[in-house]
Amino acid sequence: MLAGKKILLIITGGIAAFKAIDLIRLIKKAGGEVQPILTASAEEFVTPLTAGTLAGNAALTDLFDLTRESEIGHIELVRDADLIVVAPCTANFMAKMANGLADDLASTAILARDKHVIVAPAMNVKMWSAAPTQRNLKLVVDDGMQIVGPVSGEMACGEFGPGRLAEPETVFAAIQDYFFTFSENLPLKGKRILVTSGATREPLDPVRYLSNASSGKQGTAIAASLRAAGAEIEFVTGAADVPPPNGVNVTQITTAQDMYDAVHETLPCDVAIFCAAVSDWRPKDAGSEKIKKKGDGKAPSVEMVLNPDILKSVAALEPGERPQLVIGFAAETENVVKHARAKYERKGCDWLLANDVSESSGTFGGDSNVIIFFDKQGHQEWTQMSKAEVGLKLTNRIASFLKHPD
Ligand code: PMT
Repeated sequence: MLAGKKILLIITGGIAAFKAIDLIRLIKKAGGEVQPILTASAEEFVTPLTAGTLAGNAALTDLFDLTRESEIGHIELVRDADLIVVAPCTANFMAKMANGLADDLASTAILARDKHVIVAPAMNVKMWSAAPTQRNLKLVVDDGMQIVGPVSGEMACGEFGPGRLAEPETVFAAIQDYFFTFSENLPLKGKRILVTSGATREPLDPVRYLSNASSGKQGTAIAASLRAAGAEIEFVTGAADVPPPNGVNVTQITTAQDMYDAVHETLPCDVAIFCAAVSDWRPKDAGSEKIKKKGDGKAPSVEMVLNPDILKSVAALEPGERPQLVIGFAAETENVVKHARAKYERKGCDWLLANDVSESSGTFGGDSNVIIFFDKQGHQEWTQMSKAEVGLKLTNRIASFLKHPD
């Protein structure tokens, strides 16, 4: 929730500059205001028109634009902001910040700052590990700036290692965290929310298991957004590719039965959201020895038994024990609306978020999602959006429901 917060976003040159556009979108969706500043080299990668149009504020580029300078003034620009974010930050701009150079609008604004600065570096792996960059990094950290990333991965130049810009969602989460720490007036303050996430694993034997491809990205994004809105989060997670968000209480589980136990131990709470991909069945007898390959060439047959339905069990709790809002997900591969509606009725939850998880959808492990939202009024299709935006939209809806329950 960034309503009314003004963010001065400095975009410096580099192939990662295009990701700043996604960051602008996320901030705007959360109700924040963005004033972009582009360095001359950033303009090689992103146009001021694109950044300015998305931000709803003309992007500024030139310190010596006297008209604008007299209208705004770079000092005033900084005074007016609640937070300064530099994303991406090149090695060159890091050097300027570290040494107090002020030869363009972006570096002048940084030198005149009186606000917290979040810096998301992005550069070639060798430039990142170079001694001068590491010296400059230490200087900006000593000056109180907050560094987000870079992360390791394949670079545009073909090299591998640290230097990639942190994902826009990660930079956005740092922005939310900053305001969370200092904000008094958060819509979900005092609310306790349970979120399940990730994949359960059902052992076949001590070395093999039955599972699914959930990365935990959607559940993590939801938990991060709720937490930024002030809620206390109980995060019950199975296997995941991403770490849990900062500031949440984490319970790590393996099987569906573990998740069932952890969820029921965590209750009561105000809202429960079931985003985990839970196995409906488990092998009946997971022996303590590895299943051996048989000499007769036949594959072993595995008897399965049903796992408890966690969502259904919570939705069926008596008033007083039941969370005020129980929210399920539905992962479908075909006839999404038809199957999800049947699931919504069967599970007894208040809201259900259905998503297509067929191979071509890229939902499992991907960064975006297309949700069909069910409540007792019917269903509505949300447009494709990032998983962070799904988290925000759901957070807003939960906050307004808790304010004015149906
Ligand atoms: O993790 P990502 O890679 O980001 O992918 C996100 C996601 C696709 C996993 C997520 O958006 C999603 O759809 N989660 C629900 C997955 C699932 O188990 O769906 P289902 O249709 O099989 O189950 C329906 C609901 O019942 C879910 O809320 C599930 O958590 C719950 N359930 C299922 C079985 C069971 N034994 N107990 C349950 O509580």
